[in-house]
Amino acid sequence: MKKDLLNLYNLSREDFDNIFTNAAKLKRMLKKGIPYTPLAGKTLGMIFDKSSTRTRISFEVGMYQLGGVALFLATRDTQLGRGENIADTARVMSRYLNAIMIRTYSQESVEEFAKYATIPVINGLTDLLHPCQILSDIFTIIEKKETYEGIKVAYVGDGNNVANTWIEAATKLPFYLSLGCPKGFEPDSDILKRGMKEAMMGIELHHDPFTAVAGADVIYTDVWTSMGQEDEKEKRKKIFRTYQVNKKLIEHAGSDVVIMHCLPAHRGEEITDEVIDGLHSIVIDEAENRLHVQKAVLEILMQGGYYS
Ligand code: CP
Ligand code: NVA
Repeated sequence: MKKDLLNLYNLSREDFDNIFTNAAKLKRMLKKGIPYTPLAGKTLGMIFDKSSTRTRISFEVGMYQLGGVALFLATRDTQLGRGENIADTARVMSRYLNAIMIRTYSQESVEEFAKYATIPVINGLTDLLHPCQILSDIFTIIEKKETYEGIKVAYVGDGNNVANTWIEAATKLPFYLSLGCPKGFEPDSDILKRGMKEAMMGIELHHDPFTAVAGADVIYTDVWTSMGQEDEKEKRKKIFRTYQVNKKLIEHAGSDVVIMHCLPAHRGEEITDEVIDGLHSIVIDEAENRLHVQKAVLEILMQGGYYS
């Protein structure tokens, strides 16, 4: 049966570790210049309903490096943009392609696509979740801290798709997750409730960012206004003002704290130049790892998949 990557909740710890081990292997091979083309002759379709720099480039380059090709499909240029339904599109695309990556608004659309597709479907970001990002983030934490086990990750800011996916990861892997979000901007309530019940080590929700980051090994933030929320930008800027990741905030974390951000950053809003460009910041390594981790996912899914 084909495998999808629609969320992180459906992965087992073994699945995560398989992806990380494979990503480390692929990264080492790439750095040594060893060609590795297990996906020769295979094609990934990439449906984009929202903008992207990292996701598009890393998937496209990743497929090329693995010997395959990727097709960029802007929704508005396909018949999807003129109302062709998801089921027909998924069934037809499954006859041409070997896997599909989708970036869109609704998580339900990606799930519906996966239901009708007979090839693997990868969630490249929805309003609810961003699984490829958090897989790459945890891989980056392993590189910097040797393990994710027992690490305290503090997520400060909007309870958005990135925050929701961190919660899913913390239900499956043994690390602490501390969320610092303003009232009314907490993560998805169902994901949070389930996460708090099932977390392997613990998930805390704070409204005070200083409490959230106390003793943290990782401070993570994301934009205050996600794609699709542009109308709320000014309102959000005021509400989130005290949730900025700045020098004062990071002084409350552990002395070897690393600073992460999925990017793109709105410098001067959720994070200062001083912090994102500072010694603790690992945001560029984090962005690079999208390539290695997604290649690992592509190889696993497109070759039949050894994850559940
Ligand atoms: N972090 C991330 O998904 O970046 P893009 O929006 O540039 O793809
Ligand atoms: N939360 C952001 C992440 C961008 C990668 C958004 O959805 O716009």
